[in-house]
Amino acid sequence: MSDPDSGAERRRIWIDCDPGHDDALAIILAHEHLDLIGISTVFGNQSVDKTTINALSISALAGIDVPVVRGAAGPLIGKVIDGSDVHGKTGIDGAELPPPRAVPVEAPLATYLPDLLERNGWSIDLIATGPLTNIANLLTDWPNAGRFIKSISLMGGSTENGNVTPAAELNIYADPEAAKVVFESAIPLIMAGLNVTTTVGADQPDIDMLRQSGGRVAAALSGMLDFYRRRQIEIYDRHIAPFHDPCAVLAFIRPELFTYRPAHVAVETSGELTRGMTVCDFRMVHSQTVSHIRPSKPANTRVAVACASREIVDFVIATIIETDRRLGERTAGGVN
Ligand code: BDR
Ligand code: CA
Repeated sequence: MSDPDSGAERRRIWIDCDPGHDDALAIILAHEHLDLIGISTVFGNQSVDKTTINALSISALAGIDVPVVRGAAGPLIGKVIDGSDVHGKTGIDGAELPPPRAVPVEAPLATYLPDLLERNGWSIDLIATGPLTNIANLLTDWPNAGRFIKSISLMGGSTENGNVTPAAELNIYADPEAAKVVFESAIPLIMAGLNVTTTVGADQPDIDMLRQSGGRVAAALSGMLDFYRRRQIEIYDRHIAPFHDPCAVLAFIRPELFTYRPAHVAVETSGELTRGMTVCDFRMVHSQTVSHIRPSKPANTRVAVACASREIVDFVIATIIETDRRLGERTAGGVN
């Protein structure tokens, strides 16, 4: 799809997600600013049945008409853990969402996406905002993945503390073995971890302003953000509704709002205290002359280390308001 505003080709994107309040924002951002060709869902913030319904309902709300592929119900190994403490019993509590207008694709992502891309000769950038199980299965089962997937921008991990344990962030902790496959895949990676994403989010005046804009999408999302922010206060004493997942999308839309540093990122899968940790090596130690210093492996990831928080929040809110304007115009024109 070309961008009608600029005449430029938009970047072709697939998003794998577990909506999820901030995933909902990520889907809308990807659709408004990029050429979003499809969505896949994964367990995480809730069961995959619920995250799939949520992806379909968000699509109905925001006028998004792309295939939604239902993905993994649990991790490669071990038990399902979920983010319902943060995201509520629906996975997206607080929102009045319309019912789905479409049904999910039942073919597995690891056959559906390769077929779509190889048939059309398309290459894509992938965005991942949930546990990495679907992406790991895709990379394992598809020998040509590296030819068709140019990069993966993911929300997950941290250079600092986690949010499930002191070491681990939820998307990585929920399936460390899958994350290990992705970080070892040799596909260029961009990582938005908690070290930046917890600094970005809507405060109460932002949410009020969004609600007052008066649109249908803004009304649903401001209700969601009220719930999400309340849980952040109760659990983490954090007074914003964090925009974790939008940061992974904005890497392709407004990269200048982030500072990235190259690092080798490895995923800890066995540590009693550190399972699910993203071990970020920024050292660039290449010397092997000192036997007890382990040299760095080559960088596999551009890791976000700083960001322009206020500009990001303003951009996301402006996008939601613009979505309502676009939908209003479509309805007025009799297209919707
Ligand atoms: C991540 O986990 C979920 O709560 C959010 O949707 C985000 O993807 C943050 O740790
Ligand atoms: Ca998510």
